[in-house]
Amino acid sequence: MHYRDFHRESIANPDEFWRREAARIHWETPFDQVLDRSNPPFARWFCGGRTNLCFNAVDRHLAARAQQNALVYVSTETGIERRYTYADLHAEVNRMAAVMRSLGVGRGDRVLIYLPMIPEAVFAMLACARLGAIHSVVFGGFAAPSLAARIDDAKPALLVTADAGARGGKVIDYTPLVDEAMARAAHAPPKVLLIDRQLAPERLNAPYLVDYEPLREQHYDVQIPCEWLESNEPSYILYTSGTTGKPKGVQRDVGGYAVALAASMEYIFEGRAGDTMFTASDIGWVVGHSYIIYAPLLAGMTTVMYEGTPIRPDGGIWWRLVEQHRINLMFTAPTAIRVLKKQDPALLRAADLSSLRTLFLAGEPLDEPTAEWISEALDKPVVDNYWQTETGWPMLAIQRGVEALPPKLGSPGVPCYGYDLVLRSEHTGEPCAQGEKGVITLGYPLPPGCMQTVWGDDARFVKTYWESVPGQQVYSTFDWGVQDADGYVTILGRTDDVINVAGHRLGTREIEEAISSHAAVAEVAVVGVNDAVKGQAALAFVVLRDANAAASPADAQKLAAALAATVDRQLGAIGRPARVHFVPMLPKTRSGKLLRRAIAALAEGHEPGDLPTIEDASALLSIREAVSAGNG
Ligand code: PRX
Repeated sequence: MHYRDFHRESIANPDEFWRREAARIHWETPFDQVLDRSNPPFARWFCGGRTNLCFNAVDRHLAARAQQNALVYVSTETGIERRYTYADLHAEVNRMAAVMRSLGVGRGDRVLIYLPMIPEAVFAMLACARLGAIHSVVFGGFAAPSLAARIDDAKPALLVTADAGARGGKVIDYTPLVDEAMARAAHAPPKVLLIDRQLAPERLNAPYLVDYEPLREQHYDVQIPCEWLESNEPSYILYTSGTTGKPKGVQRDVGGYAVALAASMEYIFEGRAGDTMFTASDIGWVVGHSYIIYAPLLAGMTTVMYEGTPIRPDGGIWWRLVEQHRINLMFTAPTAIRVLKKQDPALLRAADLSSLRTLFLAGEPLDEPTAEWISEALDKPVVDNYWQTETGWPMLAIQRGVEALPPKLGSPGVPCYGYDLVLRSEHTGEPCAQGEKGVITLGYPLPPGCMQTVWGDDARFVKTYWESVPGQQVYSTFDWGVQDADGYVTILGRTDDVINVAGHRLGTREIEEAISSHAAVAEVAVVGVNDAVKGQAALAFVVLRDANAAASPADAQKLAAALAATVDRQLGAIGRPARVHFVPMLPKTRSGKLLRRAIAALAEGHEPGDLPTIEDASALLSIREAVSAGNG
């Protein structure tokens, strides 16, 4: 098959193209319309069809692969390793669903999942899908105020949590965070279901605490039928960062998502039933939702879920996992590879990697040295793929299951089938010429699997994503790119104030709001700068209410530490700036707009280029001085 024809057909005849792909999943009731485009920019896929994600991911495989492993769990933090066949997974999901139902969870209810990487997180997500409830997983690294904000937006009927997470040998106690979030939230759920790992001694507040284990025993043999949902009912909400401090709830459907993931397994990942896939991400991120859980299970594969870091007990752990579990497909972020590159290469060579077919990398730019190193070290194809929480599956990749086009260093490849991807001028909205930098946009309709809307805020969905390119109703990715004559796109960074630290997407506004909550702070600007390992690092430039508060180096250091601790408390340690610089003022335009791009350029040590008329030029100088002095 030729990629070009395949892609062209998917855009020219989406109805026929996706009708064919829809046969990959079970429809309890067939759909009567493939695509409803009567209300742009909204699109509805497989209208009238009724299906269930849990049925397709679990029950459907019982006939042929009940005894095949569905989930292999490895925690190098606790030393626990467990295997669940499809039959086991089915039983555990039924138990979890029965427990949730006994707590009043039903179709359309939201369940907020705040869990570390434990098998119960998978059971809980699939149990929601089974019941027709809408899960919203919040990454365990987020602090209480962030958790509370997500609770208030989703208004869940239940929160599921654990006593603790663990990372790098450190136990992270969830109890105080959850108690604080419950106290802060205006829409706190009546109950919190606790998975007790017995890692931390504290107990949640009694009025809402429900222990999972005794309830699981009680519901051990209960069977919960799958709720057949119309294809366009929501399956989940996943919050992600944008330009404002308020995260957006990306809402996804049921049928479109199932079809899109199942198709991606063949055309992009070349995964087949019976294969084993190891996606080293977190269930709190979209890569975890799509490629730890739903896609491999929809395809009848074995998924490996890992709690731990890539370098503990040593930098060979992932490669030994490949050997031990005969892993065929591996998926992680470039950051992890940059970390592993610093380890002894003998650790990689020591493992038998013969089962591994392909390594997939996504989430941030894959720099050329890292790409070259890992391709050579593994001697297997390395497939960079570009996408977002919003799209749910890759927009750009070499689609090896369609045609193994040659990779080009520095580019994630060509547009994936279903995506009408066009680079456009930020000023005119017109398509860019070859080699000209532009905003990466998608034409209407987005293919199946992409976000339906912003949870509870259709207007925000339309305004944010579909009205930001001048004169065109197209979806903006908020990424810059450039496309070559062969259609390969290279990503050149975000057009908005989102940064990407170690593959974690963060809004600089969110970090700024956290820092501003400290009493000593008058003003702050946070920007992302290049970082050799993490891709980007956040730098904070802070104007103090009392400039003397950081006059001595010791005071400055103390205050910087206090601000970092504030970020930890307000947002979570993932948002902590790498450095805090104290400056007398921030560069702004005459109308008071912060000149973030100029600040970022100076912070990276180059000149800011063309600038609008600014209020006070000495502000730029003070940024430059702060960076070179390295104060804070
Ligand atoms: O800026 C792009 C970058 O990560 C953003 C999306 O992050 P998130 O919503 O967390 O979803 C990650 C899903 C893989 C994008 O807007 N990004 C993602 N993949 C790549 C990338 N930048 C360059 N190359 C990539 N392969």
